[in-house]
Amino acid sequence: MISTQAPERCACDALVVGAYAEGAPLEGAAAKVDQALGGLLSSVLAEERFKAKPGHTFVLHTHGKTPAKRIIATGLGPKVEANLERLRVAAGAAARRAADARAKHIVLPAVTLPPHHPDAVTQARVEGVALGLYRFSRYKQQEDGMTVERVELLATDASHQKGVEEGLRRGLLFADATTLARDLVNEPPNQLNPTRLAEIAGETARIAGLRCSVLDVDAMQAQGMGAILSIGGGSAVPPRLIVLEYTPPKAKRTVAIVGKGVTFDSGGINLKKDETMLETMKADMAGGAAVIATMQALPALKSPVRVLGVVAAVENLPSGTSVKPGDIVRAMNGKTIEINNTDAEGRVILADALAYAAQRNPDEIIDLATLTGSAMIAFGYLAAAVMSNNQRLVNRLLDAAERTGERMWQLPLYEEYLEKMRSPVADLQNSGGRYGGAQKGAIFLREFVDSRPWAHIDIAPTAFLETDEGTGPYLPKGGTGYGVRTLLTYLSGS
Ligand code: BES
Ligand code: MN
Ligand code: ZN
Repeated sequence: MISTQAPERCACDALVVGAYAEGAPLEGAAAKVDQALGGLLSSVLAEERFKAKPGHTFVLHTHGKTPAKRIIATGLGPKVEANLERLRVAAGAAARRAADARAKHIVLPAVTLPPHHPDAVTQARVEGVALGLYRFSRYKQQEDGMTVERVELLATDASHQKGVEEGLRRGLLFADATTLARDLVNEPPNQLNPTRLAEIAGETARIAGLRCSVLDVDAMQAQGMGAILSIGGGSAVPPRLIVLEYTPPKAKRTVAIVGKGVTFDSGGINLKKDETMLETMKADMAGGAAVIATMQALPALKSPVRVLGVVAAVENLPSGTSVKPGDIVRAMNGKTIEINNTDAEGRVILADALAYAAQRNPDEIIDLATLTGSAMIAFGYLAAAVMSNNQRLVNRLLDAAERTGERMWQLPLYEEYLEKMRSPVADLQNSGGRYGGAQKGAIFLREFVDSRPWAHIDIAPTAFLETDEGTGPYLPKGGTGYGVRTLLTYLSGS
């Protein structure tokens, strides 16, 4: 909801105002409210030594001195460092604080951050609020009550209002898509298996107006997809290849986005040890979730690009029908793979998914996968790794990631890594040793994209936060929905 009221005259449960750090004077709505309060806000902030650090908030009860019951000051950090991500963080922190205070109606006054346009500023703040208030509570009998019911955005005047409206629309679109990805990642593996993921994809596609087709075991056999079939063979629940298509009129190019959809990764016959077999392994479908969530938002985003979404959905379990170390399987593009470690299953299923995508003739292919522990060793929870055969594509992805606040860092694909992925008995082997594991996984994938421009994003570090490490005001524990906002940003341009 948007209005052009003056912030100091807004009746609400919480009015959110930003404050810059390092003793900067209050400005904008904060200054107006301070004035209406006769300087009370600025003096209390100083007395209580509020440092205005990003993510920090301060609540002032107005006891009827303004129509707003509370003023929530939210830290923006030093003014010289101001950017959209700081606004996103500040909005997320304020929204959470408002929820803690049981506020129902919160108001966000207009903010300017030149040279950013009002729509970009609003989008970032709306994302912060919506993603900050996210929780996964569908399996809790007692909802610990989300109180925020109404968020109002203020515009300075009618001309500003247009930008705010557009930013609100995009912010909600991006946040809703990210929320869908988070929900899918957080779903327990007994509820979300490959067939269920395919059902959800079909349902989501129908509502969004996308084409959806799902390849079952017979269809995959007919296509020669021996790789995904071998990994999926160990589970009582069969694998699925989910294909989603967004086709806008007059599209000039096609981008394929491909996701790893391992709904639970036990490691298979090379069973994971106690320390690594964690609840986290339900999140091994986060790449697939990001693909489905992104596809679903494209029609409303009116993306100008044709997009093909492909998700390889399997459950990696040990059983009498599991793929075994030493097995040799043949992928759709004819290449043979010796399975020397059943826990390196992601690259095997992606071999067929990428070959399938490549056969559909896209101009470029982007895959997202929780592929390696190695990427987590490199980055902790703080950045995803991107690797590619095309620097122009990487640069554009890094640019999109930067704009969304999703950290991404490039790793090299030295040709020597490929030598390690050669098998003595097949074209390739699926594991080439621990060191440089993220790059070895990526260079294996490169063998299946038919030399098309391709980028692989290893989201193992960022897809799921097991502890508080890496969390933030709009990034909770559990599924993060990483990648959705970057892909949507990337796909909104031509
Ligand atoms: N899904 C895992 C990677 C992973 C680990 C994601 C931890 C998130 C958190 C992947 O299938 C895997 O097991 N990779 C192995 C590959 C190795 C056997 C070559 C790894 O990285 O250890
Ligand atoms: Mn694995
Ligand atoms: Zn895995």
